[in-house]
Amino acid sequence: MKDVFVIATNNPGKLREISDILSALGARAVSREEAGISVSPEETGSTFSENALIKARAACKASGLPAIADDSGLCVDALSGAPGVYSARFCEKDHALFLLSKMKGEKNRRAHFECAAACVFPDGEELVAVGRCDGLITEETRGTGGFGYDPVFLDEASGKTFAELPEEKKNKISHRGRAFISLARLLKEKRYADR
Ligand code: IMP
Repeated sequence: MKDVFVIATNNPGKLREISDILSALGARAVSREEAGISVSPEETGSTFSENALIKARAACKASGLPAIADDSGLCVDALSGAPGVYSARFCEKDHALFLLSKMKGEKNRRAHFECAAACVFPDGEELVAVGRCDGLITEETRGTGGFGYDPVFLDEASGKTFAELPEEKKNKISHRGRAFISLARLLKEKRYADR
């Protein structure tokens, strides 16, 4: 029988991406709903890795299945790494516009997205992989795709913001794509090496 992993996310896009990665390993993903998980833990960590582990541990405990979770955010050099782990809680309305207002007149526009992907097994084994994507904060919003800070995050290689890139292209170069590719590599090495 295939190994089953519960994916601790409410985001259907993330569930799809992780399902594809797991099926390439011969494993299967189920949603929080399918695993009967209704509560979400408080994200009290001070790093992306800590928060990803908090979510994966809670889902593993609630379901009795191996669990995968991620945590991500934007770190801006001129703001000493903020909003970082507070990216989702930075402001109540439009994150991109709020960031632009904080960056008004600022010359140093360097920033990076970071993502930690964690997997926790019922036997206590824990794996964490991190992905990073560097770029610049634009002076104004550009593009209509994506979400969150995408309209103000410029990928220097393509000259486009994440909101201007097709989803498939963004997923290939994004912090999240990179973290999950690394996690898949760790899973393959550590758990699937002899299969
Ligand atoms: P979470 O890890 O999915 O909870 O994301 C935390 C927050 O970071 C999101 O609410 C967004 O504001 C921001 N964020 C994370 N990844 C991205 C991305 O790929 N594009 C834009 N914003 C992102």
